[in-house]
Parts: sequence; structure tokens; C-alpha cells
Amino acid sequence: MTAPASLAERERPAAAAALDVDRLRESFPILDREVHGHPLVYLDNAASAQRPEVVIDAVSDCYRTYYANAHRGVHALSEQSTDAYEAARGKVARFIGAPSSGELVFTRGTTESLNLVARSCARPRLGEGDEVLLTGMEHHSNIVPWQLVCEETGARVRAAPVTDDGDLDLDELAEMIGERTKVVALAHVSNALGTVNDVAAVARLVRERSNAAVVVDGAQAVPHMEVDVSALGCDFYAFSGHKMYGPGGIGALWGRAELLASMPPYHGGGAMITRVTFERSEYTAPPHRFEAGTPAIAPAIGLGVAVSFLESVGLERIERHEQELLSHTLEQLNDLPWVRVLGHAPGAGSARAAVVSLVIDGSHPHDVATILDEQGIAIRAGHHCAQPLMEALGVPATVRVSFGMYNTHEEVDRLILGLHEVRRIFG
Ligand code: ALA
Repeated sequence: MTAPASLAERERPAAAAALDVDRLRESFPILDREVHGHPLVYLDNAASAQRPEVVIDAVSDCYRTYYANAHRGVHALSEQSTDAYEAARGKVARFIGAPSSGELVFTRGTTESLNLVARSCARPRLGEGDEVLLTGMEHHSNIVPWQLVCEETGARVRAAPVTDDGDLDLDELAEMIGERTKVVALAHVSNALGTVNDVAAVARLVRERSNAAVVVDGAQAVPHMEVDVSALGCDFYAFSGHKMYGPGGIGALWGRAELLASMPPYHGGGAMITRVTFERSEYTAPPHRFEAGTPAIAPAIGLGVAVSFLESVGLERIERHEQELLSHTLEQLNDLPWVRVLGHAPGAGSARAAVVSLVIDGSHPHDVATILDEQGIAIRAGHHCAQPLMEALGVPATVRVSFGMYNTHEEVDRLILGLHEVRRIFG
């Protein structure tokens, strides 16, 4: 399937042209399937997106034709695998504006990336009374790793509050940054609400008031908007392949070169050393220092292809399309008095990515998810790994609809019909 290339050829240089979603959908084989006798409507992209055929083929092609371990052999297959793996690193690094591919560490995903920063960067720098400042809208993967290192060091986790409308309270955050702040870690985009945090503004506040490292969970941003880590002014940026149309089990951490160079390894093993004796070991430079053991070679290559796919479709165009889907959804939900949408109205606060969290009077989110599933509509219900945020908003759980590049306005209409069915059943 060569759809990404042909999309690019056909539509370049008209970057302003609208996305040809029908054609784009042909690139994603899974979108053809039915669920419970209905065409699949996949609206759970914040949990995991689907893969285009070019990504599936790239992984399969690697295993079928040239797979061998990377960085270990002098034979032809090993060299080919190594070259493809390192080429993928270069692509992913360029995609997020990293100054060099040496600053891009492959990990299993955002969670591992954040654990790596907590353990290798923060832990050696934290002491009794130091502070790690988070926000009230963080995913558990940007809370628990910090708690683990704080428990070991006597430091403490604090969280800047979120307004009732789901925005980060920047004034409060600024007040909370001080000399004891060693890390400020925040989501670029909230997985539960879609709130887009102004990372550049937060990074500026941090620089004015402290020497803290600025760590960004970019899992929900990278597939949906142009990200340039240099422009954001942060120190670390973590993201996952499976949310950006790439394979599962692969993700990345970008870190500033001087910080990565100062950090001890996260895991020990093969490929991250220059010399080992029973007394001590010497380590390679980043990024390999942080990639102990045989890496996820084929998934990394697949991630490189996912990046090319995203670039061929165009992040600007993807963002515009998803914003239209968001507006369409919010307008329709606005007409349903029994639905409460969390977060602020469009244009009323921070920018908002195409994620809608809602609650329905008299219906538990899990029941809503089950009824929608019976109609072939996949959404997520629950606390979305953001229990502190749910508590702050006063809800135990929500129904979450999250869009990807291939969703359509017809699918929004089917979702609304599905919600009417929920209302009919629960009365
Ligand atoms: N982090 C993923 C989500 O928000 C799993 O659903």
C-alpha cells in the first residue's frame, strides 16, 4: 500500500488543502472491520491509535527479509538492521525538532521514558526537602515515578492546581516554584481532558525561578500537533509509538545533550558499556548508555515509518481536521441537556486537543461504553489513569471520546445517535 506517498504527491504543496479522509482511511486496514455487526467507529485514539498498512508492512518486512540483532554483528543482516534502526532514530529526532539524534533514546514508551528521567536524572539530584512539581492533570505515569524517587530521597511531590474548567492555574504554578524545586513535570496535552498546556510559558517561569529540569509528557501531543522541543524550551520530552500510529512497545525520550551526558544508566546490560570487569564497568555515551539489552528493532523501524506517514499527511492538516471534529462534537453535545462535558468551551481557555470527556446524568460511564460498543463504537470509560484529576473535578470516571486523523463527521453523528440510545435505555 503506497497511500502515504500518493497522498503527499497529490496534495503537496497545497498544505492548506483539507485532508482527504476517505482516501486516508484506505491506508488503515482495521478500519474496514465490523464490530457487533456495525462498521467500527474507533474513538479511543488517546489510549492507542491504529496503524497504517505501511507501518505494519515495515515491521513485517524487517522480520521477513533482514532482521538480526543491531550493534552486535559484522554480518550483512546485522549491519542492515543497525542502519535501519539508527535511521529510524534520526527520523524520530528530526520529527520533534531535536538538535541531534544522539539526544533521542528509544524506550518502551512514555512510561519508561518518564521512569528513566526520574531515576537517572532526578534521583541523584534530589535530597531531603526538595520538591518535584507536577500539575493536577497528570497521568499516573507522570506521578508514580516521581513518588518512587521522592520516597527514596526525602523529597516531596507537589501538584499545581487545575481550574474547574480543566486549565492549569499558571499563577499558582508560578507561586509554587522555588529554590527547592528540582523538577517540574507536566503533560503537554491532558489525556483525560485534551487541555493543551503552554509548555513554553511554563519553561520560562521555571527558568526565572529555579534550576529545575522541565520534563514533558508528550504522549498525547505528538500525533496531533507540530512539536518542536527546541522551541518549547523544555529539558526532556517523552512519547509513545503506539499513540502516533506506530507499533506498540516502542517510544522515545528526548533529553538535552548535556543532561543526558551527566546521567548514570537506567538499566545495565549489553550494548551500553565500553568495558566491563568484575570490579567496574564503563559506559557508552548517550543514547546507547540508556538502551541496555537487545532493543525493539523492528518496532523502532516501524516508528520511523509512522513518522514519515504523519509527515506525508501533514501535522497542520491533521490538527485542523481533528479540531473540526472536536467542534462538531461539542456543538452536538451542547444540544443534549443530559450530557455534561468536562473542560472549558472551545476558545474560552487553553487550547484543546480533540479529546472530549463527558458524563451522562444517571448512567455510569462503563455502561455507556458497553452500549456504545454494541453499536460498534469504541471509546474509553473510567478514570483514564488520572485519578487525582477526577477527584479534583468531582467525578469518579468519565466517558472519553478521542479522535485521530482518520475519524469522520459521520462517525461523530453515529456517536451522538449512540448517546441517544444510552439515554433511551437509562431514561
Ligand atoms: N494513556 C492512555 C490513555 O489515556 C492509556 O488512555
